[in-house]
Amino acid sequence: MDLRGIVLAGGTGSRLRPLTKVTNKHLLPVGCKPMIYYPIEKLTGVGIEEILIVTGVEHMGDVVGLLGSGREFGCRFTYKVQDEAGGIAQALGLAENFANGQPLAVILGDNIFEDSLCEHARHFMDQGMGSRLLLKEVSDPERFGVAEIQGDRVVGIEEKPKDPKSNFAIIGVYFYDATVFDIIRQLRPSGRGELEITDVNNAYVERGQMTSEVLQGWWTDAGTFGSLSKANELVRKEPPK
Ligand code: G1P
Repeated sequence: MDLRGIVLAGGTGSRLRPLTKVTNKHLLPVGCKPMIYYPIEKLTGVGIEEILIVTGVEHMGDVVGLLGSGREFGCRFTYKVQDEAGGIAQALGLAENFANGQPLAVILGDNIFEDSLCEHARHFMDQGMGSRLLLKEVSDPERFGVAEIQGDRVVGIEEKPKDPKSNFAIIGVYFYDATVFDIIRQLRPSGRGELEITDVNNAYVERGQMTSEVLQGWWTDAGTFGSLSKANELVRKEPPK
């Protein structure tokens, strides 16, 4: 398949200290595997063979030591260092050479969910251009990026809104065409000094090229103590597909 995969596994993991004092959040255990195995297996499950892992310099050695060439996973890994925690969109911007003009499936490394990505990837490839997001209906949307939708069209996205326009949280799985890098080049840092993935996504919304699909099975991030323990419970009860 032409789709290439990217796992974004940087950041400081500050919400999980002291668990992340000497290691990267994505290396912490979820069930009987390191957290980063789950997003990788979602990508290989679609048949993606080329996967880029982006992480900070401090723990890149451990990440490479754990994952190796990709042979164990049936894929090939490329690794890229993100020098500072400058935001999800900045990390994605490092992937331009790797992408080589191909469409991309991007996963945030702390997203753990039940559904297979096969159908979703196929729908994006059928769409042929633009971007596609995965959503999950949640009771606490103010913790996430929130999508306002009309059918499968996304008409607006707000990052952690105080007064959310819907209950559809944007999970950390994004499909992009190769124009994503032109969008990232135009971005300016947000109030918190980062290049925001929500600004990238809103650029596609403005072009009328952002679609979405709602996950059926369970989903959680694993970046806080509460969500990490929920992820552990969920993978034990109902292993991801
Ligand atoms: C990020 C994104 C947010 C998304 C979330 C999913 O937030 O900015 O839009 O809903 O991941 O896990 P963060 O977890 O970095 O605060």
